[in-house]
Amino acid sequence: MSSGAGDEPDAGRRGVLKLGIGALGVGLAAVPVVPAIGYLLFPTGSKAGERAFLPAGKRSALAGAVPVRVDLYADKVDAWNKTPDVKLGSCWVLERDGALQAFSTVCPHLGCAVDYDAESQKFKCPCHRSAFGLDGAVEAGPSPRPLDSLEVKEENGLVAIRLVRYRQGVADKEPV
Ligand code: FES
Repeated sequence: MSSGAGDEPDAGRRGVLKLGIGALGVGLAAVPVVPAIGYLLFPTGSKAGERAFLPAGKRSALAGAVPVRVDLYADKVDAWNKTPDVKLGSCWVLERDGALQAFSTVCPHLGCAVDYDAESQKFKCPCHRSAFGLDGAVEAGPSPRPLDSLEVKEENGLVAIRLVRYRQGVADKEPV
């Protein structure tokens, strides 16, 4: 045990040492967080898939009034890796009045996957029984808004769809 003025430099060194160890700890902790944040941001982050038009297939395969479920893929890119063809989401595509229309499969209520029921010709959510017409309008259940329509682009017989995610549980279509 020691005390007195001679200990003050030791106390100072100990303080500096503690600060250094603390800073090292923060630095080490940050290493796994960086890719984790990148992954959380994906697919809505800027690296891949962010509101981008993604390939949806041939126009001829999507013709007709019966909705077709289309999965949308893009390459995932982060600071270290590029993973090709990662599924980012899905949508329902159908032809109405000669034009393609796409709806997100994510239910606007709480985000369950919306199915298509061929018998009733309605989109139905199995979670709380929201039902939507072929135009996406709410026909039953708690969904606060219609199905979220997605932008469709056609070029040289190919179709691309802009994948956007919208806030759930609110009446307005707010991108997130
Ligand atoms: S999540 Fe679809 S009705 Fe609730």
